[in-house]
Amino acid sequence: MNNSKNILVTGGAGYIGSHTVVDLIQNGFNPIIVDDFRNAQKSSVAGIEEIIGKSIEVREVDVCDRVALKKVFEEFSFSGIIHFAAYKAVGESVESPLSYYRNNIVGLINVLELSIEFNVSNFVFSSSCTVYGEPTDSKVVTENTPIQPANSPYGNTKRIGEEIIEDVIASGVNMKILCLRYFNPVGAHASSLIGELPIGKPNNLLPVVTQCAIGKIPSITVNGNDYDTIDGTCVRDYIHVLDLANAHVKGVEWLAQQENPIVENVNIGTGKGTSVLEVIETFEEISGLKLNWKFGERRAGDVVEIFADVTKSFNLLNWKSNLSARDAIIDSWNWELKLKND
Ligand code: WQD
Repeated sequence: MNNSKNILVTGGAGYIGSHTVVDLIQNGFNPIIVDDFRNAQKSSVAGIEEIIGKSIEVREVDVCDRVALKKVFEEFSFSGIIHFAAYKAVGESVESPLSYYRNNIVGLINVLELSIEFNVSNFVFSSSCTVYGEPTDSKVVTENTPIQPANSPYGNTKRIGEEIIEDVIASGVNMKILCLRYFNPVGAHASSLIGELPIGKPNNLLPVVTQCAIGKIPSITVNGNDYDTIDGTCVRDYIHVLDLANAHVKGVEWLAQQENPIVENVNIGTGKGTSVLEVIETFEEISGLKLNWKFGERRAGDVVEIFADVTKSFNLLNWKSNLSARDAIIDSWNWELKLKND
């Protein structure tokens, strides 16, 4: 095995991680998954293996367990790391801030320390458009749009994570780091062999829509209808998880070409905004079903409207999204139907 193709993927059994692992393999890389399966299921590894037609290396390790994680660095020689493993539920983070700070910050520090110790210089960090908060001047945000105080402990872990990375690079270590600021990841693999597996009651819009349609939840509340947007509901940049996965592959390839230490923040979105009502209407049109939805109160802390300026992702990484929100809604629905049949 060519070690220069070994990529450590923490959280590689999760939603974005599993799609990225597939794309890495399809582009000649050899991903090694580290996941403790607290927020992912073993079935996602089986799904990856079915898509690619071979088995993959998985180590069941918590990234906060530095001793166990070090053993993985001793076992494999990595040319790059994609660090997904983290908690990601906004509401839960408000209720359990310390578990978010421990998991997301301690995990990041462990992975960075071991990267330095084992001379792994290429590093991709899962960041989020949440660092922009509610954009004030324009709803289209570039990477130079000012960062704002986070509106949840989860969002703060992403902001602090980026700051830690800036300081690490400023200290003169030999690392090259990409912080990918994801917009709203949606969709599933077209094979319906991997997709999102929300644990418990979903909070994000697409899982709420598909779970309502399949009968797992009784109704959908649209959080507010009096915003200053196209139809009064909030607008987001829904990025297909397959496109998002490919951004990581392009990111790893770009990092490998860089000779000097560097850190770059890059938006990963489509550049197009879609409202909550547009998502619901598109779903109804695709599925032929009528959803049981009603308008409710605004959700505390909701950003009104945001979407990505995607100039930098194209110019720097030669990456752009190919799939639309509509494509993602189709794949999310097929995934939900597949889960039901299983
Ligand atoms: C989208 C819209 C809701 C459920 C998430 C993360 C955030 C960042 C971006 C990663 C909002 C509305 C939802 C429902 C609704 N990603 N909605 N009824 O708020 O953009 O945030 O993605 O870091 O950190 O939390 O995504 O899917 O929760 O909501 O009306 O039952 O759908 O109010 O306007 P959001 P979301």
